[in-house]
Amino acid sequence: MKDSGAHVLLNYLPVGSENAAKFYAECALNAGIGFINNMPVFIASSPEWGTRFEKEGIPIIGDDIKSQLGATIVHRVLTNLFKARGVKLERTYQLNTGGNTDFLNMLNRSRVISKRESKTESVQSQLVERRLEKENIHIGPSDWVAWQKDNKIGFIRMEGRLFGDVPMNLELRLSVEDSPNSGGVVIDAIRCCRLALERGKGGILYSPSAYFMKHPPRQYTDDKAFRLTEDFIQGKRDD
Ligand SMILES: NC(=O)c1ccc[n+]([C@@H]2O[C@H](COP(=O)([O-])OP(=O)(O)OC[C@H]3O[C@@H](n4cnc5c(N)ncnc54)[C@H](O)[C@@H]3O)[C@@H](O)[C@H]2O)c1
Repeated sequence: MKDSGAHVLLNYLPVGSENAAKFYAECALNAGIGFINNMPVFIASSPEWGTRFEKEGIPIIGDDIKSQLGATIVHRVLTNLFKARGVKLERTYQLNTGGNTDFLNMLNRSRVISKRESKTESVQSQLVERRLEKENIHIGPSDWVAWQKDNKIGFIRMEGRLFGDVPMNLELRLSVEDSPNSGGVVIDAIRCCRLALERGKGGILYSPSAYFMKHPPRQYTDDKAFRLTEDFIQGKRDD
């Protein structure tokens, strides 16, 4: 890594690669290069690793990248729409199917625990005043359908109550090409990491993590995370 002259290391390992992800985080620390953790092994959002990157003066953004327009961002925005319109959200699910290697890998139940946690918390975090009971929220990769190949389909259902306790529900089907969907987002994350390197700023970059990642160390609404990230880019915020 040192020989390559790289400034930033991107981690895109398969879901559940706990040891390998930590191994590469260690490599970034040793090589003194920035680290962007795009998958759901909790590194930036773990106090232990955050402190280590802080001490070594190396910037880190994580964990688990959001796609440009994927099920997570749609679900978060709709959750905030319910809140803004005073609709009481009572139950919700987000079921995702796909036919690529990532979905095949996620058939392994033990590997998928952190992915579920990351995706569920990404929506729960938007319900600060009224988090849903565990049994009323179900979010995660649901099945591998070989012929879908790289086409990911997300099904979202949200059930709520309007004024006068009147029930309503919303159903949505999202279809996207999965692999390139996080590419543009990660390029912006690389730019933020490079800014931190140029400014000699190490440790967790809280604003870009909140804007680009599903499971950041600090969660905000997407509007707020966007504003904080703009402030970071303009040098009005350290992290
Ligand atoms: N839209 C997206 O692309 C997106 C969005 C959010 C999160 N992610 C996460 O990014 C990760 C990668 O997704 P993917 O679809 O590219 O998966 P993938 O299975 O297609 O690719 C994983 C790659 O990691 C390599 N690999 C496995 N073990 C390794 C090791 N020990 N050292 C070096 N390389 C190793 C494999 O050879 C493979 O090329 C997943 O954890 C996924 O959940 C992707």
